[in-house]
Amino acid sequence: MTIESLGSDALERITAAGDAAALEALRVEYLGKQGSVSALLKTLGKMSPEERQTEGPKIHALRQSVTDALAARKEAIDAAALEQKLASETLDLTLPAPERPRGSVHPVSQVMDELAEIFADLGFAVATGPEVEDDWHNFTALNMPESHPARAMHDTFYFPDSAADGHSASSSEAVGQKKRMLLRTHTSPVQIRTMVAEGAPVRIIAPGRVYRSDSDATHTPMFHQIEGLVVDKGIHLGHLKWTLETFLKAFFERDDIVLRLRPSYFPFTEPSVEVDVGWEDVGGRRVLGGDGDAPGHGWMELLGSGMVNRRVIEFAGLDPDEWQGFAFGVGVDRLAMLKYAMDDLRAFFDGDIRWLQHYGFSAFDQPTLSAGVGASA
Ligand code: DAH
Repeated sequence: MTIESLGSDALERITAAGDAAALEALRVEYLGKQGSVSALLKTLGKMSPEERQTEGPKIHALRQSVTDALAARKEAIDAAALEQKLASETLDLTLPAPERPRGSVHPVSQVMDELAEIFADLGFAVATGPEVEDDWHNFTALNMPESHPARAMHDTFYFPDSAADGHSASSSEAVGQKKRMLLRTHTSPVQIRTMVAEGAPVRIIAPGRVYRSDSDATHTPMFHQIEGLVVDKGIHLGHLKWTLETFLKAFFERDDIVLRLRPSYFPFTEPSVEVDVGWEDVGGRRVLGGDGDAPGHGWMELLGSGMVNRRVIEFAGLDPDEWQGFAFGVGVDRLAMLKYAMDDLRAFFDGDIRWLQHYGFSAFDQPTLSAGVGASA
């Protein structure tokens, strides 16, 4: 077969190839290792220089035209295949979106967001601290020395002593002195951390997880608190009462929230006050609002608070003659239960998807003061 007829034959067959597989077979037949064009190329080596001069360009031109024809046909076949695919696949954009599993915002997260929104409006920043805390921040600096009876009331989860030994030697503490580690029993250590890190004035809330070795219908080993701390000059109990009243009215979205301050005791506050909120019996349900002393009303204990103890200010490295403050701590889970009428604390942490679907909130339900911090779900 002459080079010319091989060429015209090849181009004809390539143009007629119907699909990618047929085309690939032709490529192998002509350009493969054993292919006829490849065989021609090999003959160049045995030719005389004169012969090579006339035959060489023809053979190279043949290879080029076969290569080009294969590429052109491949493009045409691919385009036709795409065309066919597009014609056979239809997408109806007017159909409703398929039902997809959707998560919801846990009531605890929702309430924390609501609290952050309310307190941001009052000029409070959000502070955080570690859940694995040391003894000093959780107790000692909050005016609860080693032997303080209040420590026993906290049902603390301690870490094994050995875990902390290496730690303290490298810190600023005396070498060899043990730095006992624990799961924080309250958010109050964030008070200390914030004052130590930032000095005064301070205006923060600190929401987060806390842990106590306690478990029954109303207690879980892990629960949530939110701490509030204001340190400034000339702070007094009136500031505390106004702040709590403003916060609780905004949170429960009722103007008739009435507070009762009762003298109490916390080592880190002096004086300490426990705050009750008035409720009213509405068809057998306790609804927050109104004077708890009125007929058909009562008081419910809600949170602990007080003026920051001078010794705590000192522990945090500030001068108590210059700086005063108030603090409060309240259970976030309890706030959520009261606001959204949930009765079982344990359900909060069961991870039951049905409970979450019922009590959870839409991610679009962002609490804002202008639209009301209460969620609609
Ligand atoms: N830390 C206390 C607790 O967990 C709650 C508390 C009481 C916090 C009074 C405060 C406070 O900041 O002033 O029981």
